[in-house]
Amino acid sequence: MKIDFLKTLNKIRRGPAIMLQKDIGVILANTSIDKNSRVLDAGSGCGILTSNLARFVKRVYSYDNRKEFLEAAKDNSKKFGLKNITFRNKDVYEEIKEKNLDLITLDLREPWRALKNAYNALRKDGMLVCFSPHITQTNKVIEEAKNDFKLVNIKEIIERDWVVENKRMRPEHTGILHTGFIIFLRKI
Ligand SMILES: C[S@@+](CC[C@H](N)C(=O)[O-])C[C@H]1O[C@@H](n2cnc3c(N)ncnc32)[C@H](O)[C@@H]1O
Repeated sequence: MKIDFLKTLNKIRRGPAIMLQKDIGVILANTSIDKNSRVLDAGSGCGILTSNLARFVKRVYSYDNRKEFLEAAKDNSKKFGLKNITFRNKDVYEEIKEKNLDLITLDLREPWRALKNAYNALRKDGMLVCFSPHITQTNKVIEEAKNDFKLVNIKEIIERDWVVENKRMRPEHTGILHTGFIIFLRKI
C-alpha cells in the first residue's frame, strides 16, 4: 500500500521540536539537490527534516548525539517507508565521517561548532543550511563561516492560511510567524 507522507506525519513519534513543512519546502527548493545527491542532516531530532530530504535524494546521513532521539527518528523513517537513510549516533561537532557531500543541514543549538567538519565533508560548491531560531545564533554562524563559505541568503518564512467557508473567504487572523532563520551558505 502506498504511504501518504503528509497523513503519516500526523502519526509520528514526537521528541524535540520538529522543523515545519513551511521551512523544509524552502530548503528543498533552494539547495540544488536531486535524486543523485548525498546529504547529511544533524541533529536528527524526530527525523522530520531527515525523512523529507530522503524522499528526494539518493542517501541521507542523519546524525544525533542522543540515542533516544535517533531511535525516534529511525522509527519515524520506517513509518514513512524510507530505506535510504543511514543513522549515526554521533556528535557532529566532533566528526563527520562522510566526504564529498552535496548538502549539509544543521538544526541544532550551536551550528558554528560544526562548520569546520561541514567544510571538510562537503564537495566544492556544496551547500550548508543552518536553521536557527535566534538572530544572535544566525549572526555567529555568518561571522564564523565567512572565510570558508559564501553567504547566499537568509530566509524567514511566515505562513498564513485562508478561511474558505461558503461565501466567506479571507486570511486567518493568525498564522505561523517566527520559527527560525534559514541560512543558506555555499562552500567556497
Ligand atoms: C531541534 S532538534 C532537530 C529537529 C529535526 N530537524 C526535525 O525536523 O525533526 C535538534 C537535535 O539536535 C541534536 N543535537 C544537538 N547537538 C548535537 C550534536 N553536537 N551532534 C548531533 N546532534 C546534536 C539534539 O539531540 C536534537 O535531537
